[in-house]
Amino acid sequence: MNEPTIEDYFHEDRVFPPPASLQAGAVVSDESVYDVAAADPEAFWADAARTTLSWSTDFHTTLEWDLPFAKWFIGGELNVAYNCVDRHVEAGNGDRVAFHWEGEPGDTRTITYTDLLDDVSRFANALRHLGVGRGDRVAIYMPMIPELPVAMLACARIGAVHTVIFGGFSPDSIVDRVNDSEVSCVVTADGGFRRGAPAALKPAVDAALPSCPSVKSVLVVRRTGETVEMTAGRDHWWHELREQVDAECPPEPMGSEDLLFLLYTSGTTAKPKGIMHTTGGYLTQAALTHAWVFDLRPETDVYWCAADAGWITGHSYIVYGPLANGATQVMYEGTPDTPDKDRLWRIVERYGVTQLYTAPTAIRMFMKWGDEFPARCDLSSLRILGSVGEPINPEAWMWYRTHIGGDRCPIMDTWWQTETGAHMITPLPAITALKPGSATRPFPGITAEVVDDHGDPVTEGGGYLTLTGPWPSMLRGIWGDPERYRETYWSTYPGRYFAGDGAKVDADGYLWLLGRVDDVMNVSGHRVSTTEVESALVDHPAVAEAAVVGATDPVTGQAIVGYVILRAGVDGSAELVEEVRQHVATKIGPTARPKAVMVVPDLPKTRSGKIMRRLLRDVAEGRDLGDTTTLADATVVEEIRRRAAADADAPGGGAN
Ligand code: WT7
Repeated sequence: MNEPTIEDYFHEDRVFPPPASLQAGAVVSDESVYDVAAADPEAFWADAARTTLSWSTDFHTTLEWDLPFAKWFIGGELNVAYNCVDRHVEAGNGDRVAFHWEGEPGDTRTITYTDLLDDVSRFANALRHLGVGRGDRVAIYMPMIPELPVAMLACARIGAVHTVIFGGFSPDSIVDRVNDSEVSCVVTADGGFRRGAPAALKPAVDAALPSCPSVKSVLVVRRTGETVEMTAGRDHWWHELREQVDAECPPEPMGSEDLLFLLYTSGTTAKPKGIMHTTGGYLTQAALTHAWVFDLRPETDVYWCAADAGWITGHSYIVYGPLANGATQVMYEGTPDTPDKDRLWRIVERYGVTQLYTAPTAIRMFMKWGDEFPARCDLSSLRILGSVGEPINPEAWMWYRTHIGGDRCPIMDTWWQTETGAHMITPLPAITALKPGSATRPFPGITAEVVDDHGDPVTEGGGYLTLTGPWPSMLRGIWGDPERYRETYWSTYPGRYFAGDGAKVDADGYLWLLGRVDDVMNVSGHRVSTTEVESALVDHPAVAEAAVVGATDPVTGQAIVGYVILRAGVDGSAELVEEVRQHVATKIGPTARPKAVMVVPDLPKTRSGKIMRRLLRDVAEGRDLGDTTTLADATVVEEIRRRAAADADAPGGGAN
């Protein structure tokens, strides 16, 4: 007998049509874009490449597809930094603000496109001065300051390949990444401000570099002014080199398929994979999706993606997409609760932010903090909201819509991955009717299908999300390991890219993401998605955030164990816990009722905010913790374990 595909339990009936107010002047206001793209996807993307970007040499071939290896816009030449900076200045928009930057302590900088051109050109010359050239790898380990996008664009300007390492990573992570890609130059800063204090970065680079023989030079940006050690001959201050180098740096024409950057995915177990992205296809899809999904009107909008530039979200939707489109953006250095939990809303109000793009993990945190913080601020400038990184639970979606979006702004739930480079499944704001918790449908020119265990398409119900054709911003491989690329992404369902996510299709053809298939639970032969049970838990008014895992059970195979964070001011009594368990049974059915629910102060998350269910499974099954190096805060699991042990000791307490 075949194992069942993933069950479809959660039913969500609310529908929100696109707001009429967005239709006039919308970048995309007509459904026909989908049909046009579907009729000839290559022609659609070729047209997007030519109209969205400036090429120094036009391409002669749109696509060469030798599954699983794709080449897009062959023969074309362009420079990414030219597209993101110079051409806006040449078009007379040099005075337009590129970044309204705000430091955590409250200091601000306003950077126009003319300023950006000067900075990027000088930074590129500084890199050249340090011996960096075409094809060389540069690691960037920085706080969220303007020099981070500047350094990325400077690499692109001279044809060097950057690999950004998130500023929260340890020296060991730097060593792995720098050595894997044989980086010759590291760009860093003395530190940045986090939670009201300077947080040093340079010492982590100093600790890593003795194990990194390929690194010849380090370029250091001064941000905090704290004392740092400078190694003579290796380390250089950016503010000193800045004054010595030329202000002009002609952009290097690059082939469409030349490598633009590597970004390592911090897989929870295996060695990090260096995901390769190239030039023409990546920039085309990053720019087009940014303009369409956020309905960007560059003359008037103030767009804010609150991610860190160290993740793909920051690469595609802070640096490359928005700057290629000439957007005005907000960039913020610090944490959302410094000095108070209303910091983000103060920023929205101050700059008149029109689009806000953030993650479900942040939304659930705001929900936990309470409604009063956004209520303090005028958020009426917002037009469109975005969500990325995890499935967004319908109740978190509703909270976001009501308390941030004023019941007015549509929410773009964008599904994509480091590997896909840009949005793949997403609504479009002026034409898609939204259902809370659904990422809706593939972007024009993208083809996705949910399949069952045999790889046969599922027309309604749960299964595995696959992509059925090449797309311009797709990864071109894993650095140094083409076989691992084929094996990881293209071997499960022959001819299809399998992303590792479960998804279901509803009767209207809408797609609902169900989380990583590795996390799917098997309860008495039913395959239950973590996402649906978590959404049912978050649906209870006392619950702000939830994680569930399947723990081995002698009777049912696996039993569902839930961990919940309560909203501010709610008391976690035994009665409430019972009520919350029961709520799941009522909402989606008795099979999905957790065997136990535990109230916890926090959940273990990766540094990008994804819940690490593997660790919760270890706790639920009483195992020693496996590898915890990718965990943002290692004390969280210990606290949960302590509570679990206390619950087990107390007769009838908590779990039952
Ligand atoms: C994984 C990719 C994409 C930039 C940030 C994460 C999950 C991402 C959604 C969404 C449901 C989502 C998937 C995906 N994911 N967006 N809108 N709905 N799940 O990039 O670290 O490469 O993670 O994030 O599981 O496979 P990433």
